[in-house]
Amino acid sequence: MKQLIYRSQPFGFDSAMLAGILSAARRNNRANGITGALICRQDMYIQLVEGPDEAIDALYQRILADDRHTEVKLAMSAEVEERMVPEWDMLDDTNPSMTFSKDEVEDGAIDRASPEALQALFRRIAEKARAAGAAT
Ligand SMILES: Cc1cc2nc3c(=O)[nH]c(=O)nc-3n(C[C@H](O)[C@H](O)[C@H](O)COP(=O)(O)O)c2cc1C
Repeated sequence: MKQLIYRSQPFGFDSAMLAGILSAARRNNRANGITGALICRQDMYIQLVEGPDEAIDALYQRILADDRHTEVKLAMSAEVEERMVPEWDMLDDTNPSMTFSKDEVEDGAIDRASPEALQALFRRIAEKARAAGAAT
């Protein structure tokens, strides 16, 4: 199974666009055996997706071609045995508190972060959502 993390810059970010992305993501991911989480803020997306190799490769190609964001950059790709967020078709963190500040994003901190640091970020987000009983 493949696990992939990328970052990008939203293009024309608003709540309607985000709702559209999340509803398509959840519908498709459920059908394709993909789970994941999306950190969304006006100045950044960071997304974790995990599932069968071919499904993840196909999804990443669609994501690269999506004009609702730019500067898509792969931050981590790994073969894993276990999912990090098995309960969520696409968990959303729309009020990210445990991540990079706007200044850090502007300064390129996401690109300097290690794959382990990014995985740890998603692990914390999943733990927070589990504690809050977030819908799956
Ligand atoms: C930040 C971002 C995250 C996305 N995440 C997913 C995703 O997890 N799964 C998915 O199928 N599409 C996702 N998409 C949408 C795809 O780029 C593409 O529009 C969609 O898969 C096409 O599916 P449709 O033909 O069913 O609309 C995402 C798009 C953006 C901009």
